[in-house]
Amino acid sequence: MTTINEIAPDLFRLSIYVPDFDMQFNHFLVRDEEPLLVHAGLRAMFPALREAVASLIDPAKLRHIAWSHFESDECGALNDWLQLAGQAQGVCTLVGKLVNVDDFSIRPARGMTSEDALSTGKYRYRFYRTPHIPHGWDAGVLFEETRKTLFCSDLFHHFGDVPPLTSSDLIEPTRNAIQRMQQGPLAGYMPYTRHTEGVLRSLAALKPKTLAVMHGSSYSGHGDRLLTDLAGVIKENYDQAEPNAAPNGGSATPVGNSEVTEGPPSVS
Ligand SMILES: [Fe+2]
Ligand SMILES: [Fe+2]
Repeated sequence: MTTINEIAPDLFRLSIYVPDFDMQFNHFLVRDEEPLLVHAGLRAMFPALREAVASLIDPAKLRHIAWSHFESDECGALNDWLQLAGQAQGVCTLVGKLVNVDDFSIRPARGMTSEDALSTGKYRYRFYRTPHIPHGWDAGVLFEETRKTLFCSDLFHHFGDVPPLTSSDLIEPTRNAIQRMQQGPLAGYMPYTRHTEGVLRSLAALKPKTLAVMHGSSYSGHGDRLLTDLAGVIKENYDQAEPNAAPNGGSATPVGNSEVTEGPPSVS
């Protein structure tokens, strides 16, 4: 079942909760002259999501389908949407277009740099490249400049079937989720590099009023403060050796070499 909420004017959150993962998968529809969907979603979710979109607009009239980085929950159903909406185009970073999408997709995507602007009518967007944040060389975040909405992808990911929108702190649930992820098979969700803090601070400088979060509640308020605090949480949890990156508690045996390398494994 898809839960639909208008979390800001013309901005609809289409949320599917998956109990097995204790996680929401959120997709955002901007209702404008040229409707835009952020996150094409998993292929398995396409029928439910198409029905949810159809309750708001004619899905055949979708014009733009955007995502952050090449992963199934971000753009798995891209081709289903492109087949349904003949005028729709994928929108991602230029790296995403060149490295992944144009080979996968039935029509070429629009690869944006921060110099490009996209207009859907009333609303105007830029795509900021954020390599490896949350993860993936091609990662970026879409920012809607008129109402100052930042589409955060996996940043601020937290668990639970939580309310659509909050104005209280997302930092604590995010910290808990990061720590929970680090204990399981999906550890290493986000790398920490010397660029991480600077990128998050540059997103904070945009002073977003709405943070549209892919997994968990969206946020309304001082997005700059949350992004600055998030930089600290990411550093505190990921700027250290990876707990589950190699067998035997951090020792790696190179393939074809009998020598055992001690010490922290490298994370690629
Ligand atoms: Fe992701
Ligand atoms: Fe995601």
